[in-house]
Amino acid sequence: MKFSDEFETRFSQMVTHYPTKRSALVPTLLYAQDEAGFLSDEVIAEIAGRLELTELDVRNVISYYSMLTTKPRGKYNVQVCTNICCMLRGSDAIYGYVSKQLGIGHKGTTADGKFSLESVECIGACSWAPAMQVNYDFHENLTNEKIDRILEEYAAKK
Ligand code: FES
Repeated sequence: MKFSDEFETRFSQMVTHYPTKRSALVPTLLYAQDEAGFLSDEVIAEIAGRLELTELDVRNVISYYSMLTTKPRGKYNVQVCTNICCMLRGSDAIYGYVSKQLGIGHKGTTADGKFSLESVECIGACSWAPAMQVNYDFHENLTNEKIDRILEEYAAKK
């Protein structure tokens, strides 16, 4: 498994910031996923070895965090929060609208590989519900008009 020089620099600095190697697991997984697109068996084995963990330890952490994935997904991963605060502010309709606009359902990916969609638990933006996250960007106080604008912006990105 070969990561970029940038990853290697980040990794070697990051492990010095924590009292134990294990503590660097989540950021390492995020950097690896950003680079590889998803956390393949090969990536998991590599990271487990580097951090002196079992592959099962790594998989258990991956399964806990919705932003981590072991399967390929779209370039822009749209995560619509459907937890309680967002639900009370209409997230079911928001999720339905995003799903209709993209033509995909939960865990689906558009044919062009540009978007994938997920319904997720709280993303920590309850005060601005209903909210969604696209990769690392948060979008809040969502309306159908706002969603159209947001999706158009991502679709137009190179
Ligand atoms: S419940 Fe949706 S962001 Fe917290």
